[in-house]
Amino acid sequence: MKTLSGKEVVEAIETRLAGGVGWLKEQGVNPSLAVILVGDNPESHSYVKGKLVRAEKLGIHSQDHFLPAETTQEELEALVARLNEDPATHGILCQLPLPKGLDEPRITRLINPAKDVDCFHPYNFGLLAQGEHHLAPCTPAGIMEMLKHYQVPVSGKNVVVIGRSNIVGRPMSLLLSHKGVDATVTVCHSRTPDIAEHTRRADVLIVGIGRPEWIKADMVAEKAVVIDVGVNRVDDPSRPRGYRLAGDVAFDEVSARAAAITPVPGGVGPLTVIMLMRNTLLAAADQNSLKFPEHMDI
Ligand code: GUN
Repeated sequence: MKTLSGKEVVEAIETRLAGGVGWLKEQGVNPSLAVILVGDNPESHSYVKGKLVRAEKLGIHSQDHFLPAETTQEELEALVARLNEDPATHGILCQLPLPKGLDEPRITRLINPAKDVDCFHPYNFGLLAQGEHHLAPCTPAGIMEMLKHYQVPVSGKNVVVIGRSNIVGRPMSLLLSHKGVDATVTVCHSRTPDIAEHTRRADVLIVGIGRPEWIKADMVAEKAVVIDVGVNRVDDPSRPRGYRLAGDVAFDEVSARAAAITPVPGGVGPLTVIMLMRNTLLAAADQNSLKFPEHMDI
């Protein structure tokens, strides 16, 4: 069994992106990402911190807009409108979920599609569905990079995606079914009867349902490749923080059966962040009518 390391893939991509940042700056463009975080959800804070640290490391300018949980819809919309208009801001990300009372779909639709580095806007999602997208959603795009890096074949294979969220499952199924990728995709979700019947037929199994260690060895085909998108906090008094992180897959037992598997943490997570950086560079270039030279492979 092989462990698929997100870190290894990130290192390969990071070198190329660093070249892209340098090139943009030579053209007089200082790529800049605005990150909006409302409230004090600790997991969201931890994700956002990871994004800001990575941006700084790559030389991408970042703006953190940390707002209190009591922020009104009008205040949040005013901030998005201001960032939409600011030519020095190339990417806008509003960390989800938003606190209760704020209208998430409305905010998602308000972000200028050219600056929508999450690819959550219905315009970008529509382009993705048509296979005409410029920006791809970060987690599914990161998984595609992972599969490519480790030369996991998907063309003509059965790929089973568990979860139909707009952030992971649904866009993942779109990317995989595009012409040229050519996977046969099955999407399972909480109302699928007998999920195991599907998962056992998967050459590649991608799981993002948010249930800790839910996929057990007997649900996985011998020699399958398993991609675990789940990040769950599980109480563990023996840890200094009182919890540990667990994926949606029971790692120990499934790794004994699978050909390859991603760990949690250290698997898909770092790829989501590096794809966000990539989208920021693509958005910055596009907004300045620039095209990265082919050889840079951004
Ligand atoms: N919440 C969980 N994942 C994501 C993500 O990729 N982007 C945003 N904006 N919020 C999230």
